[in-house]
Amino acid sequence: MAGSVSPAAAAGGGASPRIIPVWDPLVRLIHWSLALVILLNGFVSDPEGKLHETLGYVALALVLTRLCWGLIGARPARLISFPPAPARALRHLGALRSGDRTVHLSHNPLGALMVWNIWATVLLIVTTGIMMGSPRFFGVSWVEDMHEILFNWLLLSVILHIAGVVFDSLRSGVPLVRAMIDGRKRIPADRPIE
Ligand code: HEM
Ligand code: HEM
Repeated sequence: MAGSVSPAAAAGGGASPRIIPVWDPLVRLIHWSLALVILLNGFVSDPEGKLHETLGYVALALVLTRLCWGLIGARPARLISFPPAPARALRHLGALRSGDRTVHLSHNPLGALMVWNIWATVLLIVTTGIMMGSPRFFGVSWVEDMHEILFNWLLLSVILHIAGVVFDSLRSGVPLVRAMIDGRKRIPADRPIE
């Protein structure tokens, strides 16, 4: 990663940001595809129709592919770079309160909790969706209720996720949405990097 720092910054070029590639094309493709599929299944597709089921399987494939990529992909995309660790998230909260402006190349510890929550919720939504169509659980109301409750939880999570992205972009001075589009974090010269 160090080799990817922009030449200006490497040369000590004043206030120019360090430009560091973090999200490879597969991570970005999966991110925006998953967002689209979830929105389509939540608000556009007919829940009783074939398209809803197919999009649900696409969501499953996207999450599973991402998890596999997290074992072999580049460092910021590795699952081990952003473990779901509540204690770390609490420490991060404390650091935020004391004005810490450290930039994380991967997800910050709070963001990491949210990412794992989103993936787990999608997997549970797909599981309850498949259960609804199986002979054993067909028409069972708690399974239908769970599918709906989990979707509402996912929506709430996504709203908090977007709020977190906006907050952390302002805190760190790194345009995070742009990084999820072109893959590169532009990190102000004076920010420590973790
Ligand atoms: C249904 C909608 C969405 C879902 C399910 C979702 C889910 C996720 C997930 C799972 C990640 C982790 C990516 C990875 O490591 O592979 C992520 C990261 C990210 N998402 Fe979303 N997302 C959604 C919408 C959005 C939107 C609308 C934006 C832009 C405003 C956004 C901006 C980002 C950014 C910037 C990151 C990287 C955060 C960081 O630098 O740590 N997401 N999102
Ligand atoms: C990301 C994946 C998915 C999302 C976001 C999603 C979302 C939803 C939503 C919002 C509803 C309407 C709930 C209500 O108001 O009653 C619904 C209903 C339903 N979903 Fe999914 N779903 C997903 C995956 C699946 C899968 C994979 C299947 C089947 C293989 C499935 C089967 C169903 C069925 C059968 C209903 C109708 C339940 C009923 O009203 O009787 N879903 N889904």
